[in-house]
Amino acid sequence: MMEIKTDANLKAMREAGRVVARALEAVRAEAAPGVPLIELDGVVRRILTEAGATSPFLNYRPAWAPVPYPAAACLSVNDAIVHGVPDDARLADGDLLSVDCGASLDGWVGDAAVSFTVGRARPEDTRLIDTAYEALEAGIAAAVVGNRIGDIGHAVGRVCRRAGYGLPDGLGGHGVGRTMHEGPDVPNEGRPGRGVPLRHGMVIAIEPMLTGGGHDHHYTGRDGWTIRTIDGSRAAHVEHTVAITDDGPRVLTAL
Ligand code: MF3
Ligand code: CO
Repeated sequence: MMEIKTDANLKAMREAGRVVARALEAVRAEAAPGVPLIELDGVVRRILTEAGATSPFLNYRPAWAPVPYPAAACLSVNDAIVHGVPDDARLADGDLLSVDCGASLDGWVGDAAVSFTVGRARPEDTRLIDTAYEALEAGIAAAVVGNRIGDIGHAVGRVCRRAGYGLPDGLGGHGVGRTMHEGPDVPNEGRPGRGVPLRHGMVIAIEPMLTGGGHDHHYTGRDGWTIRTIDGSRAAHVEHTVAITDDGPRVLTAL
């Protein structure tokens, strides 16, 4: 399903997106070596509650998931690509952390993710993260009326490949609206001029996931959710919910 949003809908989605941005910033401020992941999930829950929002992640159970998602945030450390389930493990010096969270506010959803290092960063992690943001920016720049979904994937994929990183097969972005996952799929690779035409009022999540390894080298952990690289290489994941408008792309999950 893909719903075209009215301008009033987009305004409402912007408010949901702002809550997501605030939650991600709060986690960034709190994350440091020695901090348990579960505490960072608590930070997200607190920000959502204060804003009168709820978590679209908590208890989410798509058809492919063996168990409902048990937290408000995905906290993916080092070789975890996405959907890392927070537990009482503590962050360590030099860890690469990807934080993904959503908010439902007044019936509309926002979904976004950031990646950063804690403590002393490895230079190779900094390069990986910088490339992920570059890919996201390229994807957003391609999210314009007149383009198609394939133009976005092409823009994202090109940045990643040029830098020599892997793009996990089968993982990508999606439409966003009254629910977190709607049509269309927004793959991180694509062919220019192919796929669904982009129209004013479409809202999509663009979410590059980059690994130091190959394209098909990932597996889901025993918790039923955490997706990791098989070769142990580190991964970065960044995401914005973006509205396509006649005035250009509008990032709904900015602060
Ligand atoms: N941004 C993530 C995605 O689109 C959100 C996952 S929510 C979870 O896949 F509940 F499934 F973890
Ligand atoms: Co998403």
